[in-house]
Amino acid sequence: MPVPFLDLKAQYRSIKSEIDPAIQAVIDSCAFALGPAVEKFERDFAAYCGTKYCIGVSDGTAALELAMRAYDIGAGEEVITVANSFFASAEAISLAGATPILVDCNEDDALIDVTKIEVAITKKTKAIIPVHLYGQCADMDAINAIAAQHNLIVIEDACQAHGSGYKGKRAGSIGHCGAFSFYPGKNLGAYGEGGGVTTNDESVALKIRMLRDHGMREKYKHSVIGKNDRLDGIQGAVLGTKLPHLEAWNTKRRAHADLYRKLLGNHPKIKLFKTHADRVHNYHLFAIRVPNRDAVQQQLKDKGIATGIHYPIPIHLQEAYAGKWQKGDFPVAERMADELLSLPMFAEMNTEMVEEVIKYLTYIVK
Ligand SMILES: Cc1ncc(COP(=O)(O)O)c(C=O)c1O
Repeated sequence: MPVPFLDLKAQYRSIKSEIDPAIQAVIDSCAFALGPAVEKFERDFAAYCGTKYCIGVSDGTAALELAMRAYDIGAGEEVITVANSFFASAEAISLAGATPILVDCNEDDALIDVTKIEVAITKKTKAIIPVHLYGQCADMDAINAIAAQHNLIVIEDACQAHGSGYKGKRAGSIGHCGAFSFYPGKNLGAYGEGGGVTTNDESVALKIRMLRDHGMREKYKHSVIGKNDRLDGIQGAVLGTKLPHLEAWNTKRRAHADLYRKLLGNHPKIKLFKTHADRVHNYHLFAIRVPNRDAVQQQLKDKGIATGIHYPIPIHLQEAYAGKWQKGDFPVAERMADELLSLPMFAEMNTEMVEEVIKYLTYIVK
């Protein structure tokens, strides 16, 4: 039985009767850019995350960039994030005009190593962007405490953390603001690109609303230089229709993860990442560490099991930042990059699929 990495068609089939009319309603209304469906989704997603505001934007990278710009973070200033993340965590800092400063991740949970943050702080530091990687929240109490002491803004990179929790709070409500991606493969995914910023800060929400729409406060009155980072009406309708399903989907993902953990927990060569009892993991990704990763991935592929690597090259070794960092700067992230393997994970998979993955994985890795 082949097992895909994720199956967006299966999800669509399960909600087609709700999605199709919601999309049709936007087409009928011709409210294609922002509009009522986006406004409703913004209200609903803010309520879901436990924040006062959500501002829909074009994608997760724009969410991060506009969040920084809303706090007037830019040229000559530094923002700290983690070396083991999707490239956009750092790219957005560069796009805002600031300088990304990377720190290493923890060996046990792959999240930002909070003990490395304080030494990275300089007079130019303005913000920390912890990444809730794979869907597990970073150590936010420690990060918020460091930020408070040094007067820094905390922007959660919640692009993989829809519905994830930390000590009773939802991702996106723990720092000053949260940045979400609604890329199709996310736990809450659009049918195209999408993003959003969550915050309790009214002035920041207002500023992001302006920045995403050419700096306009009112039509054709441009108060600041913004750009076009609006969320499409159709994406607002899709996201608004999917949101009520998110909890159930995340619960199913957790059940699959529990089975993976049960069946792989005692394996001598496969390492699982630590999950923290005070956090709710949404299992956007189920990443493990295996020796000879590339060979293992190929052999799984030969058996019809699709996997991913998140991420094969840490941010500091990406060509785009050539000359800024060197190999050896973030050894944990580098070691991990060679061993990471993300197993199939999506709500619609079933127990047999998880067992199929485990059967071949444990046959290949002995
Ligand atoms: C951790 C992280 N940050 C930022 C982003 C950027 O989001 P987008 O692709 O929607 O711009 C992603 C998306 O994959 C992500 O996983």
